[in-house]
Amino acid sequence: MSTTQPDLGFIHRFVPGRDAGRPPLLLLHGTGGDENDLLPLANRIAPGCSILSPRGKVNEQGLTRFFRRSPDGVWDRDDFNQRTLELAEFLRQARAAYQIGKPIALGYSNGANIAWSLLLKEPDALSGAMLFRAMVPFDPRPLPDLHGVPVLLIAGDHDTLIPVERAGLLAALLGEAGADVTYEVLHAAHGLTEQDLTLGAEWFASRR
Ligand code: MLT
Repeated sequence: MSTTQPDLGFIHRFVPGRDAGRPPLLLLHGTGGDENDLLPLANRIAPGCSILSPRGKVNEQGLTRFFRRSPDGVWDRDDFNQRTLELAEFLRQARAAYQIGKPIALGYSNGANIAWSLLLKEPDALSGAMLFRAMVPFDPRPLPDLHGVPVLLIAGDHDTLIPVERAGLLAALLGEAGADVTYEVLHAAHGLTEQDLTLGAEWFASRR
């Protein structure tokens, strides 16, 4: 059973899990995606888990995103901050409504970027994160204490949207905050590969 509902502040989809012993997943799609996009990926990486999947609220010329950026690609920092807090509030309400524990985020591209922002600004919101093709384009310090929080970050060495050194900087910053970071650079572009899925599934299986 699953639902797509316009309530709790975000259009979203909730899929109850078959395995109550496993953490739920918070799916955060990439630019132009929606709440359905990452479901097949989640089923490959974490079969049987509950899934909470909101749709980003920003409309960039018809493409759905989680925060605004200028036409030349520069992130709107105020919007980024405010949308992060709004997403955290949605997560609090959704956890109460669906009676689920603290999720692990699974974000791709724009969704992975707001996922790391959640980790830094609302460190109690998530129990971990899988970040596919994420980057940090500015210095987000001061950093919270993320000791014990597991993070998987996977970059592509010829990703034209996410410079690999910006992904590496994010891995370093999360490590500086104390997170238990696994950082992988694949011979890949912006799109996900079989290797992303395999590494994601292995990492998630080791969270038990
Ligand atoms: C972003 O704006 O979050 C990144 O540039 C990735 C994307 O193009 O969505």
